[in-house]
Amino acid sequence: MINTVFYLKTKPLKAETSTLNSSSNLICLKCHKGDYSLQNLIKKLHITTGEELFKVLRKGPKAGLHKLRTDEQIRQAIKYLNLPFKKEQKDAP
Ligand code: HEC
Repeated sequence: MINTVFYLKTKPLKAETSTLNSSSNLICLKCHKGDYSLQNLIKKLHITTGEELFKVLRKGPKAGLHKLRTDEQIRQAIKYLNLPFKKEQKDAP
């Protein structure tokens, strides 16, 4: 009984949400590790903006591998990599 209480108290409280609130659950990182880390790839491909990352993943030679990646996932990767968007959003105030 005491053990059970102890267990409950030490169990980390982790909210299971579908929205990404930490970079550690970025889907890209499941495949992109080590030499193939996103940081290494964007450096190698000279990707410096969000648009360029979208273009590579949608129209590049490896687009087929990323067909299942949603725009939202790519946007999260862009945020994770701190890439800026070149064009300002047109409908921004
Ligand atoms: C299911 C595994 C998987 C996931 C998930 C995945 N990738 Fe990839 N990605 C690959 C593979 C495999 C390659 C090809 C690596 C190679 O051989 O050069 C690749 C290549 C790339 C490249 C290089 C493209 C090129 O033209 O050379 C970039 C950039 C990239 N991925 C970004 C991403 C981003 C951003 C995400 C998340 C939105 C993502 N990937 C998710 C497997 C994955």
